[in-house]
Amino acid sequence: MPVTLKTLFKKKREGKKISMVSTYDYWSAKLCDEVGIDCILVGDSLGTVVKGEVDTLSVTLEEIIYHTKCVMRGAREAFIIADMPFMSYQVSTEKAIENCGRVIKETKAKAVKLEGGSEIAELVYKLTRVGIPVVGHIGFTPQSINIFGRPKVVGKSEEEIKKLKEDFKALEEAGAFMIVLESVPTKVAKELWENSGCIVIGIGAGKYTDGQVLVFHDIIGLFEDFKPKFVRRYLEGAKLIKEALEHFKMDIEKGDFPSDEESYG
Ligand code: KIV
Repeated sequence: MPVTLKTLFKKKREGKKISMVSTYDYWSAKLCDEVGIDCILVGDSLGTVVKGEVDTLSVTLEEIIYHTKCVMRGAREAFIIADMPFMSYQVSTEKAIENCGRVIKETKAKAVKLEGGSEIAELVYKLTRVGIPVVGHIGFTPQSINIFGRPKVVGKSEEEIKKLKEDFKALEEAGAFMIVLESVPTKVAKELWENSGCIVIGIGAGKYTDGQVLVFHDIIGLFEDFKPKFVRRYLEGAKLIKEALEHFKMDIEKGDFPSDEESYG
């Protein structure tokens, strides 16, 4: 059965945890879907993970559309969310609605994700009114890396906690059905979650949320450049793949590949 907003809220009401994976292509989406991951986010983290950039800022609308289409082909049941890239929703409300509408129309994703709090609340309200479900994203927001300076935990000072609470309330009141909390202290995330009506998904926000999201390449250990504290690796993917590739290279060099069975008669 396809995952819908209704089934996600049912899970929240019943206290069942929601799983979400950020990924970008057909085969990884297919694997996530086959094991019953609830939501797939086509994250702009593809800037670092797929493109090899130092941040997410260069990701374009065309790239998000391309990768969301690939994911859509692999996923039959998961709820697909497309991440709106930097500068695709900040220029004007009209442009933002047009871009979000384009993503939904062209990719058939079920929702869009936007980074930011009170400053995007009006836009969130308008998007939900035209029928586009919105996921908010507060705490550490990678598109503001040049303001933050570096990835950091947000919600340590009284001022930051106050801002997080205001942003959370503004997004929720504007109609965001889900809010991602990134790099927020457990105690602060717990307080936001306990008073929430929307679905709260954490990444580096502790266990008191409705669910968790991690990047596919982090889960399977493909991305070795750095490992944030909140990542749990379930496979040493890069190590295993390198072993296989070394083996392949050796077999070619020794003349062991291809064998007669692997050749046409
Ligand atoms: O871009 C992304 O993958 C994300 C998640 C890690 C929340 O924003």
